[in-house]
Amino acid sequence: MSIFVNNNKNLEFHLTNNKISYIITVLKNNQIGNIYFGKAIKHRESFDHLMINRCCVLAPYNFEDDMDFSLETTRCEYPVFGKGDYRKEAFNIKDENGSTVNYPTFVSYSIYKGKEEYSKLPSTYCENEEDITTLEILLEDKVQKYQIILKYHLFENYGSISRSSKFINLSKHKLELNKALSFNLDFDSNNFNLLTLDGAWTRERHINERALLPGIIQIESLRGASSANHNPSLILKDKNTLDENTNDAYGFSLIYSGNFEANVQVDTYNTTRVQMGINSSTFKWILSPNETFQTPEALICFSNNGINGLSNTFHRTIENHIIKSKYKNKVRPILLNNWEATYFNFTEDKLLQLASKAKEVGVELFVLDDGWFGERNDDTSSLGDWYTNTSKLPNGIGELAKKIKDIGLKFGLWFEPEMINIKSKLYKENPNWVISTPNRESCFGRNQFVLDFTNDEVVEYIYSKMSIIISDTKLDYIKWDMNRNITEPFSNLLSKDQQGEFFHRYILGVYKLYEKLTKEFPNVLFESCASGGGRFDLGMMYYAPQAWCSDDTDAIERLKIQYGTSLVYPISTIGSHVSAIPNHQVGRNTSLKFRSDVAYFGTFGYELDITTMSNEEIEKIKDDIKFFKEYRELIQFGDFVRLESPFKGNTCSWMVISKDKKTAILAYYKILATANPPLNKIKLKGLDNNLLYKIENNHFYGDELMNVGFNLEIPFNGTARSEYYKGKITTGTDFGDFTSQLYIIKAE
Ligand code: DGJ
Repeated sequence: MSIFVNNNKNLEFHLTNNKISYIITVLKNNQIGNIYFGKAIKHRESFDHLMINRCCVLAPYNFEDDMDFSLETTRCEYPVFGKGDYRKEAFNIKDENGSTVNYPTFVSYSIYKGKEEYSKLPSTYCENEEDITTLEILLEDKVQKYQIILKYHLFENYGSISRSSKFINLSKHKLELNKALSFNLDFDSNNFNLLTLDGAWTRERHINERALLPGIIQIESLRGASSANHNPSLILKDKNTLDENTNDAYGFSLIYSGNFEANVQVDTYNTTRVQMGINSSTFKWILSPNETFQTPEALICFSNNGINGLSNTFHRTIENHIIKSKYKNKVRPILLNNWEATYFNFTEDKLLQLASKAKEVGVELFVLDDGWFGERNDDTSSLGDWYTNTSKLPNGIGELAKKIKDIGLKFGLWFEPEMINIKSKLYKENPNWVISTPNRESCFGRNQFVLDFTNDEVVEYIYSKMSIIISDTKLDYIKWDMNRNITEPFSNLLSKDQQGEFFHRYILGVYKLYEKLTKEFPNVLFESCASGGGRFDLGMMYYAPQAWCSDDTDAIERLKIQYGTSLVYPISTIGSHVSAIPNHQVGRNTSLKFRSDVAYFGTFGYELDITTMSNEEIEKIKDDIKFFKEYRELIQFGDFVRLESPFKGNTCSWMVISKDKKTAILAYYKILATANPPLNKIKLKGLDNNLLYKIENNHFYGDELMNVGFNLEIPFNGTARSEYYKGKITTGTDFGDFTSQLYIIKAE
């Protein structure tokens, strides 16, 4: 891995490892331009010949004698407004005189091994400084007197770099930072399809794909959280690529959990501009003299093995350079959560019964969800009152924790730290801690309001209350929920001019609490949650190595949700549970086998009343947990490959392959049954061509499975041959709607 510097007429920087090349240059006007980003190319002493300078009639040009140099068509690294580039700028600073024309130019650069973590923000990191090389480019606007440091972090082992920007006010007056995106990347074609992960509560991260045409596609959040509606990630893939395994794919994911914007702009010269960062429509930061502003970081990945290759790059970079917990690269405990088993209606006895049964079947962690605190018996009260609800737990939460641990399980608790109910002691004592706008009625949301986390006093208070409970219970796990978005954004603590800082300061407050808790209690496993997957982002993942993927626990719906989530996020981060039937969100009945076969591909756990299940079901759960314990390392940290998309048809399949390629699992799901179906042959991926694999009682070489393909069973094709009529399969499990099959593939 290297960052080469070509010291020619134009300074060039070539960031490369054996997977990617990212080449930038100091342009003729001393701004920074992009020459290339994609598959690694060999280094040479100059890349000047790859630059495209073209004269476009009527385009403004920056030098009187050179019509070919116009920012209108230049591939810019951090573009500005007002100097000839009419596409979207990456940042905007308003001068004292009201001008918004910005023109910072190159001053110097530095290159060093390793990376400093950003203060107050989650960011990528390395344990060994050989794993990241950093390039910092210093720009200065001599008129407005500010500097920008463009930061580039190149990862040694993956096709990934990350980027961010830092602003420094050198002037003697305040500057208004009205837009400060994390990065900008220009491509000289629009030969891409764009994939985004969109949805809503209970249908998060559904894949939407479209071809790029001139104009702007923006996804964003204005909710105070990254949101279930649009995930802060974008993927570009070569147009016309139908599969997930071939051609170039570029991925972008913001390490941020608040309001974001992600823009893809195609201009009329068919150039494509990708940008991401804090949402500029709810952002204005007042930068006092000598103050600095660091943007969130964005992870940028590339693969020329299609979206599957890209996902692998994302997964590995996230596992090794973003997830920071003690659980980094460690299998996750199998849990039982009481939410869908009891909702608010539980007693200590009931919880202990659930825990005992959980222990019997092989569960490792018992999680007590909402309702254990204050006077909370439904969702109308007590958020903020983080002490035991003694009407339900008369012996106290510490005692319950002890009993659960005596059963032989780890103990976890649900918190919703950022929220408050009007019906709470906290509200009586501190009504001014609620976010609201003076003279405006407040909107309602799940009977609760959001605490002003821009206020340090609030963060410290919640920290102190949570710490008491964590210590008292010797807690092993926290589910950190967040169930309402911000309305009436305003903080009493911020001046009139600073209200534009509100949303960013809010999320900095959330990060501060996470930082304090994870530092103080490093053994606690955090699972983030926001009504399911409403804040499933890399910012959260830095602190919480797993996230509750969706409140939709229906296994059929989960196929799409988990499939979409896997585009960017590692399998070990995807919170997935087996729940009861009829399913509580859609009323569907699926077999226990089907539900397990889907939930395995994540953290795996249960969220149903196992004390009322039949012996047969309990035996099946025991077997399933045994199976999962045997294969969870492979499932959570193997190479995950998507084979058939549930967004495209009636079947879904994926596989995981061990790093040594000796073990793999193929998972195949059929949504609706069809009689006498056509042949169903799947070409497997990621195996070793030369290894002889056993699947059930058959043997295949890797090259056969990957090139000839693997034939899936046909459960029903006429009475003569059907396994059903031979009594080998039974309705509702292998036969009928909603069936699944896991194939264990082992090298002999
Ligand atoms: C929303 C979460 O997503 C659920 O899993 C559950 O914890 C409820 N909140 C509790 O109120």
